[in-house]
Amino acid sequence: MKVAIVGASGAVGQEFLRVLDERNFPIDELLLFGSSRSAGRAYPFRGKQVVVKELKHNDDFKGVDIAFTSAGAGTSKEFAETITRYGAIMIDNSSAFRMDDDVPLVVPEVNGDDAFVRPRGIIANPNCTTIQMVVALNAIEALSHIKRVHVATYQAASGAGASAMAELKKQFEQLVAGEQPTVEKFFFQLAYNLIPQVDVFTDNLYTKEEMKMYNETRKIMHSDIAVSATCVRVPVMRAHSEAIWVETERPVSVAEAREAFAHAPGVVLEDDPENRVYPMPLFKAGCDPVYVGRIRSDISNPNGLTFWTVSDQIKKGAALNAVQIAEYLLAHKQ
Ligand SMILES: NC(=O)c1ccc[n+]([C@@H]2O[C@H](COP(=O)([O-])OP(=O)(O)OC[C@H]3O[C@@H](n4cnc5c(N)ncnc54)[C@H](OP(=O)(O)O)[C@@H]3O)[C@@H](O)[C@H]2O)c1
Repeated sequence: MKVAIVGASGAVGQEFLRVLDERNFPIDELLLFGSSRSAGRAYPFRGKQVVVKELKHNDDFKGVDIAFTSAGAGTSKEFAETITRYGAIMIDNSSAFRMDDDVPLVVPEVNGDDAFVRPRGIIANPNCTTIQMVVALNAIEALSHIKRVHVATYQAASGAGASAMAELKKQFEQLVAGEQPTVEKFFFQLAYNLIPQVDVFTDNLYTKEEMKMYNETRKIMHSDIAVSATCVRVPVMRAHSEAIWVETERPVSVAEAREAFAHAPGVVLEDDPENRVYPMPLFKAGCDPVYVGRIRSDISNPNGLTFWTVSDQIKKGAALNAVQIAEYLLAHKQ
């Protein structure tokens, strides 16, 4: 198996190196790609140093079986043809192709089989906030169809990349030193603050990130589900959290929901309010599952259920989900 990572120096690219090794993914040869900025840098993988090549329009992808791409939507669009020309399957982390009809959008626990219909050789990895939500929603959908979801996200700085994580750390250090914090990556100072805007606003006054949660959830779940999201950037380093309210066709009890979450693939139930057991991002960074807690009936809606999820968005929200897609393809070869 010849595997390529495009965007190897980035937050997601670095996670790919860890996840592929951790999961013992079958690799005979690994190729790393980046822009001219990181070309020439070497990263260790399974005892060897792998040097980053500059991504160019050439034949470098000849013989590549799977290419994991995480270098932004512009790069994915520009290089998709070059990457897939010789038959490589491109599993793309960017937003470039997610809503294209001829590109499957896949979360293996929910719609793994969609990955087999890929006329362009491209499989899209959903937005990180959507992945973590649909893994949890899927458990409830199996009990009763979900008609509506309200969700508020609490998104970590690292969701905006490696440099955003560095900026948050620097802001805390600068503030402690009595200096003016550097604000470049986010619209405002994030340290000691919350920013109720992730990505740019659209015509309906939702942000792009919020509309991704609406559109991508419907595509992955093959559902008419309506999602109203408010996405908020918080001064957390890693792992996104979401407060989720669902309205189902029939009322779903807390006991039923707990049972469903306890057995749902990819979910770990942490819900013991008396003992203050609920998931928190600080303790879930670097972990694989989607954690669910704070489950209760919605007192404002007889058919409503509310709960809280936490998941590492660089892992399940990006690199891990993409590797799981590749594993799904290998395990269910058609
Ligand atoms: N961070 C997350 O939690 C997360 C979650 C889900 C999806 N994603 C998506 O994954 C992608 C990468 O995100 P990230 O957080 O890893 O960003 P990042 O830390 O800023 O890294 C960006 C990567 O893209 C590479 N790159 C940029 N322009 C390139 C070009 N023209 N040719 C080749 N490589 C290029 C960079 O290489 P150089 O170092 O050479 O510039 C770097 O390796 C984005 O599309 C993002 O939306 C991120």
